[in-house]
Amino acid sequence: MIRKASVLALGSLLLMAAAGAQAAGNAAAGKAKAQICVGCHGVGGNSTIPSNPILAGQSAGYIAKQLADFKSGARKEPQMIGVVAPLSETDMQDLGAYFAAQPIKPAPGRDEALAKRGERLYRGGNAKTGVSACMSCHGPAGHGIPPRFPRVSGQQPEYTRKQLLTFKSEKRTNDDEVMTRIAFRMSESEIKAVSEYMAGLR
Ligand code: HEC
Ligand code: HEC
Repeated sequence: MIRKASVLALGSLLLMAAAGAQAAGNAAAGKAKAQICVGCHGVGGNSTIPSNPILAGQSAGYIAKQLADFKSGARKEPQMIGVVAPLSETDMQDLGAYFAAQPIKPAPGRDEALAKRGERLYRGGNAKTGVSACMSCHGPAGHGIPPRFPRVSGQQPEYTRKQLLTFKSEKRTNDDEVMTRIAFRMSESEIKAVSEYMAGLR
């Protein structure tokens, strides 16, 4: 019995190692494939366009998942459809590895008073309306927990605001109902404030 259990455990460890190796991606290969991303996501994934996300320093697994979701239609974005159509799973892993390794040039936090209000929600949630503390999944400094929970620190606040609004209105539903349930309980002014706060996190 014991021996059988340890053989099974070893088997699943090997499977996990294989999945890990597959998920690692090749950053050098990704760099070559990232040329077409520059126009919209900036050099090294540091977008300076407020509505376009910064990809630098984002978790590789999260990036690969989003690319797959754009391709399958689970996440809808007209500007990304043409980009993802020719990408293979390996391309997506390589692009994820490349952008994850790029140093982030964070968007500047702009409005301190607004950010201060966002900080309370980010760190403590809103007990009255049942909004969970963002910190518990995205980390105290917003660096996320790879591969599942994305980095939110230093992100363009306009992009972040749009995501929270699209989760709230269920136009973005590729989150296994985690963010849609949270955003549903958030007011538009909370969304604005927390987006500003996260942009200023380092
Ligand atoms: C024509 C402009 C354009 C090009 C080219 C483009 N993107 Fe995008 N991308 C966007 C926009 C706009 C969004 C934001 C969509 C939204 O608001 O939901 C986005 C979102 C993303 C996201 C989701 C990020 C997040 O934080 O959830 C990833 C990942 C991404 N793009 C990767 C890429 C990669 C990799 C390439 C190159 C192979 C690329 N994009 C090329 C416009 C573009
Ligand atoms: C229980 C865990 C959890 C909590 C709590 C949580 N999130 Fe998330 N969040 C996620 C997951 C998982 C995703 C990625 C969904 C996906 O795969 O597309 C995400 C995605 C996001 C995104 C999209 C990032 C991008 O680059 O597009 C934003 C913005 C975000 N969360 C903000 C928040 C805010 C603000 C709060 C607090 C009010 C919060 N989250 C609380 C789990 C959580």
